[in-house]
Amino acid sequence: MTYDDIRKAFLGYFESHGHKIVPSASLIPNDPTLLFTVAGMVPWKGILQGVEPAFAPRVADVQKCIRAGGKHNDLEDVGFDGRHHTFFEMLGNWSFGDYFKEEAITMSWELLTKVFGLDPNRIVVTTHISDDEATEIWKKITGKEAIRLDKDNWWSAGDTGPCGPCTEMHYDMGADLPGGLPGTPDEDGGRYVEIWNDVFMQYDRDANGNLTPLPKQNVDTGAGLERVAAVLQDKTDNYDTDLFVALKHAVSDLTGVTETKENVTSFKVITDHLRSVGFAIADGVIPSNTDRGYVIRRILRRAMRHGQLLGHRGALLSKLYPALVEQMGAAYPELAANEKRVVEIIENEENSFADMLQNGMKLLDNELPKINNGVLPGDVAFKLFDTYGFPLDLTQMILRDKNISVDVAGFEKAMTEQKERSRADTKGTRTLWESQNLSATDDSSKYAPDATMQSKVLAILRNGEFVKSAGEGDDVEIALDKTNFYGTQGGQVGDMGTILRDGATVMNVAEAARVDGVVVHKGTLVADVSVDDIVTTQINEPTRQQTARAHTATHLLQAALQQVLNEDVEQRGSKVSPDSVRFDFSFGRAMTDDEKKAVEELVNKWIDADMPVKHEEMSLEEAKAKGAMALFSEKYGDTVKVITAGDVSCELCGGTHVYHTGEIIRAKINKEKSISSGIRRITMSVGTMAE
Ligand code: ALA
Repeated sequence: MTYDDIRKAFLGYFESHGHKIVPSASLIPNDPTLLFTVAGMVPWKGILQGVEPAFAPRVADVQKCIRAGGKHNDLEDVGFDGRHHTFFEMLGNWSFGDYFKEEAITMSWELLTKVFGLDPNRIVVTTHISDDEATEIWKKITGKEAIRLDKDNWWSAGDTGPCGPCTEMHYDMGADLPGGLPGTPDEDGGRYVEIWNDVFMQYDRDANGNLTPLPKQNVDTGAGLERVAAVLQDKTDNYDTDLFVALKHAVSDLTGVTETKENVTSFKVITDHLRSVGFAIADGVIPSNTDRGYVIRRILRRAMRHGQLLGHRGALLSKLYPALVEQMGAAYPELAANEKRVVEIIENEENSFADMLQNGMKLLDNELPKINNGVLPGDVAFKLFDTYGFPLDLTQMILRDKNISVDVAGFEKAMTEQKERSRADTKGTRTLWESQNLSATDDSSKYAPDATMQSKVLAILRNGEFVKSAGEGDDVEIALDKTNFYGTQGGQVGDMGTILRDGATVMNVAEAARVDGVVVHKGTLVADVSVDDIVTTQINEPTRQQTARAHTATHLLQAALQQVLNEDVEQRGSKVSPDSVRFDFSFGRAMTDDEKKAVEELVNKWIDADMPVKHEEMSLEEAKAKGAMALFSEKYGDTVKVITAGDVSCELCGGTHVYHTGEIIRAKINKEKSISSGIRRITMSVGTMAE
């Protein structure tokens, strides 16, 4: 069975057993405790915890997952065996308070042995030491004696949240392979491969490790598609299954190198990293120096190093992306839908790192002969990081097969020293910008972001210093005379996008900030730039739209709170980000579940009504006469912007908004809590994520 066959068979089986089939959620989770979606259950965490209603009692899907940071991290293992991936697909079925252990186990068993046709004798099962019930069910259904284990048979997505005992199914790949049974010291040898995990989500774990039984007993299962494919295609290495063989061919075609025993690691790393980088960027991750953006940047740079090991120079993943679309685009339409944008982002990132990789390798080659204790000094690793953009793990990966390690403590010391220096240098860049006395940026076209115009570079700030020009790879802050970027203001986070010169990107802007009236574009250069250069600015439209959705949704939320709770509810602060909202308001007690439900329903009713949203400018007097709501502490000029959504909300607001409430798609309240006496905070998702 090919990947496409397996996905179809899995979903078909669960559909015929009453499950609602849903598409994969985004790799960017709506969950601050996780960098990426690490398992099929991540989108359902709220349901499993009992804080969100289930939209169906039984659900199944194939979920995109990345495990490359935090508690679930397989990055270091990729390439060295046939089983690890940073990106993988997880087949999963869920019961939200519907069936429990017996039915879950019965269905897993039937699917494996009847639909997939696996030999029952080659399947080994494990259960948790505390779980007599699951152990007996296995015995009853299959006659099998489960191996009982402790921590391997307890599953949670993060340090807190829903968790419970699990039962795993392992497949015996053959007696000729090394490796022992699950629970033995050489369980990872390769003979027994875990192919499916049924978790019985019974508890919620708090920050102190206390377990509270969940209101409903749920089932959360996960089967790694790549491992299932290997078993069904009779391969001992996931990278020899149909999808990876095709991707490896694309690598060969591009590099002109055929796969051998010696270079297979590079083929595995490149095909794996192509999937995580490609899918993550298609879902909206931008390579950067923080959080998930940095994970993706690191993965991309590791892939380039392996391209270099194959003798390849320059762009790699951007050239391979079409092969990924060809292999996986039918199952994941977002790959093709975003192709142009993804390829451009990867290309920019690859172009900016290509020279640094060559130069950094030269530095490293010069340093290697000086090493006599098997340890690369921390300051050299830091120089590679700071000047050549080598993430620490890239340096470690390069040295791994030379049996040289890195003095990590020395690296961290050098890093801390540099941070202290730059903190002393900049004291936050606000003061530096203020010292420039620039006049306010003309950002009047921020409401008409398609307007094309020529802007002039006024100032470039790099490492705490204003410079006349800066080069590729530099992290800088730039002020222009004009921009269509919305700089962070009024609780709405600033735009991201690009700055171009003669049509070619010179800078990836991660965020437009604002220092008084000056819009400061923060990001990384991909080409040299100088003061007085004439450039054009281009915002990232999908992100702008996501932010607009969230901002209009915030106004609807405030109106709904006033209707459901009382007229006096007042905004006390907000943070409007792409597709998510944090809204603080005055209210003396916790909202009841019914009130939260009523507010959410009202907001969604207004969204469904697709009311027009008017964007108007008028005098403050006129706005007051119209009854527009104004914010508690804002100062307003004589002319103000007024945003009116249907007949339910009219607010003074300088943010960006949608034109019809239907564009918001959907809103979903995630949490309501106290942040200080008399002030409550709601966090809400909007858009496709909420959907
Ligand atoms: N959430 C479980 C896992 O990832 C099924 O193994």
